[in-house]
Amino acid sequence: MTATLSEKDLEQHFEHTIEKDQRIEPRDWVPEGYRKTMIRQIAQHAHSEIIGMQPEGNWITRAPSLRRKAILLAKVQDEAGHGLYLYSAAETLGADRADLTEKLITGRQKYSSIFNYPTLTFADVGAIGWLVDGAAICNQVPLCRSSYGPYARAMIRICKEESFHQRQAYELLMTMMKGTQAQRDMVQDAVNRFWWPSLMMFGPPDAESANTAQSMAWKIKRHTNDELRQRFVDMTVPQAEALGVTLPDPDLKWNAERGHYDFGPVDWDEMKQVVAGNGPCNAERLARRRQAHEDGAWVREAAAAHARKMAEAK
Ligand SMILES: [Fe+2]
Ligand SMILES: [Fe+2]
Repeated sequence: MTATLSEKDLEQHFEHTIEKDQRIEPRDWVPEGYRKTMIRQIAQHAHSEIIGMQPEGNWITRAPSLRRKAILLAKVQDEAGHGLYLYSAAETLGADRADLTEKLITGRQKYSSIFNYPTLTFADVGAIGWLVDGAAICNQVPLCRSSYGPYARAMIRICKEESFHQRQAYELLMTMMKGTQAQRDMVQDAVNRFWWPSLMMFGPPDAESANTAQSMAWKIKRHTNDELRQRFVDMTVPQAEALGVTLPDPDLKWNAERGHYDFGPVDWDEMKQVVAGNGPCNAERLARRRQAHEDGAWVREAAAAHARKMAEAK
């Protein structure tokens, strides 16, 4: 005789899996809150990868050499790949990809606010790869141990590619810093514009972060927003020194007592404005994504018709 597992047994099994630091897999029972949180986080991450192709994609046709163009093309293409693995991971939780896309293009699901800033010069390609992909690495390395198996495994490959993104950018900036004064000024200007938005990528301060406590308990997240932000600052300051640029924060200084760099206050009002849709490029990014989706309708129809024919032929 087989006994059916009660809701309580299932819940206990879930709790034990988390406690023992094992992975939750698609076949496992999960509480509805866990499923929703995980879908929201993975979808938001997937959307960020896809929208994140736009600011840099803007420079592919104007890259200064064939070498830079090939690197940038590869990087932007990697981001498309990241988006696709992540949409697949969300599907293992029962999410529907068409529905997620619909939610993105109608503004009901968010993507990282960093991609709502414009890319004004080619140095921005370097600043984004160094700072934005750098911040993404700080956020994502601990996610390789996230409790949801498909997400954690996707993150391993993504992190490897992100580290290539960061290195190519640092090398790009280093090359520009060895160039003319105009090139050095261009790098400094790009760093000035991307520094603060990069710090915002870690999300609101812990005291105001609604989801942090539950996400930590479920081991979806391993470190708080403020811990990760500090780690990013500590990692980046020596890199800025080696590069020969300054970071636009007069309060930035080493605190020997804490063993960390102190830094000035982040402008959270600006972040709220950008998240609310009022950043410099929000409308443009969404309009472009919507257009690309509409332009791709015939491809989706053709693929569906082909799949139908293949199924009928069996
Ligand atoms: Fe990525
Ligand atoms: Fe990247």
